[in-house]
Amino acid sequence: MSYNNIAMSVPKRKKILFTASEAVPFIKTGGLGDVAGALPKALARRGHDVRLVIPRYWAVDPGPYEMTWAVSPMGVPLGGRTVWCAVRETVVDGLRVYLIEHEHYFGRSGLYDDGKREYPDNAERFAFFSESCLQLCRDTGFSPDILHCNDWQTAMIPVYLKTRYREDPLLRDTATVFSIHNIGHQGIFRFSNPDRLGIRKEDIHPDRLENYGGINMMKGAIFYADGITTVSPSYAGEILSPVGGSGLAPYLQRRKDDVSGILNGVDYDHWDPEKDPHIPAAYSAEDLSGKAECKKALQRAFHLQEKKDVPVIGVVSRFAEQKGFQHVIPVMEDILRDMEVQFAFLGCGEKYMEDFFGGLPARYPGRVGAWIGYSNERAHLIEAGADLFLMPSLYEPCGLNQIYSLKYGTLPIVREIGGLKDTVKKYNERTGDGTGFTFRDAGPASVYYTTGWAVSTYYDRPEHFDRMRRSGMREHFSWDDSAARYEEAYERAGDRRSAWR
Ligand code: ADP
Ligand code: GLC
Repeated sequence: MSYNNIAMSVPKRKKILFTASEAVPFIKTGGLGDVAGALPKALARRGHDVRLVIPRYWAVDPGPYEMTWAVSPMGVPLGGRTVWCAVRETVVDGLRVYLIEHEHYFGRSGLYDDGKREYPDNAERFAFFSESCLQLCRDTGFSPDILHCNDWQTAMIPVYLKTRYREDPLLRDTATVFSIHNIGHQGIFRFSNPDRLGIRKEDIHPDRLENYGGINMMKGAIFYADGITTVSPSYAGEILSPVGGSGLAPYLQRRKDDVSGILNGVDYDHWDPEKDPHIPAAYSAEDLSGKAECKKALQRAFHLQEKKDVPVIGVVSRFAEQKGFQHVIPVMEDILRDMEVQFAFLGCGEKYMEDFFGGLPARYPGRVGAWIGYSNERAHLIEAGADLFLMPSLYEPCGLNQIYSLKYGTLPIVREIGGLKDTVKKYNERTGDGTGFTFRDAGPASVYYTTGWAVSTYYDRPEHFDRMRRSGMREHFSWDDSAARYEEAYERAGDRRSAWR
């Protein structure tokens, strides 16, 4: 290949402002935090000038980082008034990160809720965050080619950019890409005074932001963003259908040529059994012996009988209806009666699920362990120590845990939808091919029988089980490949932005 060809294949270096409501290593409640921690780094590795902006919640401890004040104070326009905040700056793994600090909006224990209820001023908190990302560009003189927004918390950015900032010399050529990580959360608010959020009257329109008399921030982004992505190819198709789109399908249909599905990657710096500091023994596809030690440690930590020949099924999840655990509850006792199996649950969320799964160890001592809460360390131990990983989601835009499971040789039991379908290959009993156990129809019967299928494979076809473990561990979900796909989405968004002007 000539040098000319190489030069042609390198995309233009872009200035990218990546905005999200959470990011590893600072703060995380779910997969969005993993993505916002990893994708900007992958883009930076490919030569782009990437900066990340997140809120500085009370729970973000600045201690471990060297932080300076990027802008202090910063005056952010919000619905005709100026809200004063400050912006901290740090560099993590070569990535420049800004943290927006505002005591009233973000100096709270939770990110989106207080553990029971969503904060009643979430519309204002995240409209403010969206505005502060734009103001940050102005105060630091950063003119991004791409403003990459993620989920409803940053959905107002494309709205503001195309309305109030349309003639701004610094931002008028900036294109926006809006990534949907979960269409189940749209930023819907009953709101009597949209003025307070700087929303123009003409945008309170059924095609733009209006929603049954209130506002829907994600709908606004779908209308105004230059490009729309979601986190797996299958989910990109699902959100265009009435049920999958949770009410937004008609609006996405209008933008369907601008919608693409790009699979999330895995940050193998954090999730790799060969170098995971949270697990007691390292192992790889070539040498699985350390996994047995991890299983023992898991059984001990979750007060399970230390039996090496009984399969352990792991769960790490938000306990939300999206994840399908309401379909596990009715068959849990049947599974424990009929199958010689153990469970290790780690999760929190819906109270009835916490109560049910949290109550099982007392009824099935030594066979079910449960830890209700959030614990990164235990999440790693489950991935490493379990034999199977249960994820029966009703919908799953991408899902990261099943991909982590593949890397840890822990075979996923998943429903064939969204990102689960795109990442787990169904077991073929004749050949032993595949990387997991999958089912189509949601419901307790599917959970029962697919779990049974997995457990019987463990006992009756151990050579297949072993082969699948190794196949899964050899799969590679690279952020670098995903970043290359985002570059294409950025190009298309840039072209659309130019045409729009
Ligand atoms: P979602 O973002 O919908 O919750 P994902 O599978 O994309 O689902 O990502 C979830 C992320 O959050 C994973 O990194 C997972 O390990 C982590 N996680 C979820 N629940 C817990 C928990 N209770 N404790 C620790 N980590 C958790
Ligand atoms: C959301 C989705 C999950 C996805 C994550 C990161 O929380 O529920 O499927 O993996 O975002 O994109």
